[in-house]
Amino acid sequence: MAAVAAGWAVIGIDNFEAKVAQINSGSSPVEDISDVQLQAAITKGSYKATTDFSAVAQASVITICVPTPLDDKREPDIALLRNAATGIAPFVSNETLVVSESTSYPGTLRDIIIPIVDSLKPKDSSTVYFASAPERVDPGNANWNQKNTPRLVGGIDDASQSKALAFYESICNAAVSVSTPEVAEAAKLLENTFRLVNIALVNEFTQLCSANGINVHEVIDAASSKPYGFMPFRPGVGVGGHCIPVDPLYLTWWARQNGGAAGFVESADAINHAMPKYVAQRALAMVDSSITNPKVLILGVAYKPGVGDVRETPVSELRDHLKVQGAVVAWHDPLVPVWEGLEPVDLDWECDVAILATKQPGMDVTQLITRGVQILDCTNSVKDLAGVISL
Ligand SMILES: NC(=O)c1ccc[n+]([C@@H]2O[C@H](COP(=O)([O-])OP(=O)(O)OC[C@H]3O[C@@H](n4cnc5c(N)ncnc54)[C@H](O)[C@@H]3O)[C@@H](O)[C@H]2O)c1
Repeated sequence: MAAVAAGWAVIGIDNFEAKVAQINSGSSPVEDISDVQLQAAITKGSYKATTDFSAVAQASVITICVPTPLDDKREPDIALLRNAATGIAPFVSNETLVVSESTSYPGTLRDIIIPIVDSLKPKDSSTVYFASAPERVDPGNANWNQKNTPRLVGGIDDASQSKALAFYESICNAAVSVSTPEVAEAAKLLENTFRLVNIALVNEFTQLCSANGINVHEVIDAASSKPYGFMPFRPGVGVGGHCIPVDPLYLTWWARQNGGAAGFVESADAINHAMPKYVAQRALAMVDSSITNPKVLILGVAYKPGVGDVRETPVSELRDHLKVQGAVVAWHDPLVPVWEGLEPVDLDWECDVAILATKQPGMDVTQLITRGVQILDCTNSVKDLAGVISL
């Protein structure tokens, strides 16, 4: 949509037919894009979706933005990236720019994508330009979007760099030129790893404060009064979504490939993964010990407020730990209609304790408080109310 707004004609290729049909019917699958905005682009003839990779032949710029998840061993799974590169390659025209926006380890563009495209491209496509420009979107963020978030651009050579800068300068307020694709790829991993380790630090710190009767949020607020050298991060159930829990493991894997180690990052990952169990224990400690199978209501299952995205949500592990301890668990999230095959319950579900895991907009927990239900607030959003205990 940022490219459409900049005057580009855009074709979205996706191999998931239902999503293509949904988009072409004018229904946006992305929270930050309204149906009205999508429909206007379609009506104007500026945007359409297709499953047909031959549409690539019409493009002067191709951006690859497929998911880059982890495999069963929690190592980079770039199969979708390889598939996408393989899918576009036979249709890449001469003088076309190919950009990888997917998050991956340094060297992915040079060592994976370029060899695939070069080996499968049409014979008359002698010149193809390549760059890395990692996506930086923050879903649900009302202040920062594609347009006003500067975009890193690292081309494989000078000609690629100027083509890529021209494209991103047309759709963003600022494109930031870096010397190689590897710098752009590494910067993306650093950005998200920065968040992971700071969240882990505050999650660990929270446990120390709680054990000593100190409210960690008051401590964070106090430290935040320092005008330099400190940035507040808040504790929570853990980290979720497809960026913060995933991207740092691309970094740790990449470190190992080069004979190095990213022990600090691995430690942060372990601390965050231990949080759901800690939260489960804290919540169950709030229940009368005579109740053998306490009923626990989880409020908010999406990985962050304002979105219905449950990918990698730490709430899954929280629920599992609660169940292992014998709890009967139900959940409520106004933005998630179905979660792991189960329907939500209403806020009037009878429970022994509630855990506010993700504070969704419009979620009103006062009726629980009125009923005398104790709440463990993992979001620092319900303050100074009787029966609410902060993480
Ligand atoms: N969404 C974000 O908030 C965000 C932020 C920063 C970076 N990223 C990065 O952007 C990349 C994409 O993430 P996303 O959240 O937009 O993914 P997504 O899951 O929302 O969407 C990607 C789409 O790619 C399609 N797809 C998968 N394989 C394909 C293939 N071979 N050919 C064509 N289509 C294919 C899927 O069907 C899906 O519709 C990832 O590397 C992610 O780390 C995402």
